[in-house]
Amino acid sequence: MCLFVDVEGIDGVGKSTVIRRVADVLRGLGYMVLVTSEPSDGAVGRFIRGNVLTGEVEVEPSALALLFAADRIVHFNTVIKPGLRDGFIVITERYIESSVAYQGAQGVPIDWILRVNSMVPEPDLVIILNAPLAVIRERLTSRGTLEYFERSLNLLMRVQEIYLRRAEERGYPVIDASRPIGSVAGDVLTLIEDKASGKCKGSRH
Ligand code: TMP
Repeated sequence: MCLFVDVEGIDGVGKSTVIRRVADVLRGLGYMVLVTSEPSDGAVGRFIRGNVLTGEVEVEPSALALLFAADRIVHFNTVIKPGLRDGFIVITERYIESSVAYQGAQGVPIDWILRVNSMVPEPDLVIILNAPLAVIRERLTSRGTLEYFERSLNLLMRVQEIYLRRAEERGYPVIDASRPIGSVAGDVLTLIEDKASGKCKGSRH
């Protein structure tokens, strides 16, 4: 087992770009890195992405939490676990804390969300990317079509509140993602390298 990292934050905060940049640098340093995301490419993840996030199929929040949890179990067992076993630093964009923040913001009790996610392990490191909602709004509108959660800034505000509350309670590092990408990626890289250098000796070539 090497290192299991989850990068979290609301839509438009820049998770994908930061993860891509950090993974490139880590590979340059000789680490093996596997980048993945949720909803996953598995059957349930594809259903969520293709039918639920488009608004085509309406699913009540507690049922949606179960769909995300089901996708997560398959994702962990088929992608994350094998990656960790083979010595990769696995970086996932979204994991349990996304369900806590989003389905929690939709009114689903957080202790229940955690219970239905108890079949998969917690990551070694959870990093929260954070930026003011005004910045997010601009990024999302410039993207064009908006998905399910992106349509309501009120909901995203509640999602962000839960992320920040969880970060405080659980000691997750919060990175200011309104800064230039180089600074954000640099901070994320430092957090990951600090942990990887103790745990991933075997994965440096
Ligand atoms: P993304 O690919 O842009 O991150 O879109 C995934 C959307 O699904 C995003 O709005 C967050 C939402 N989501 C949940 O509500 N709960 C979850 O558990 C996960 C993984 C994602």
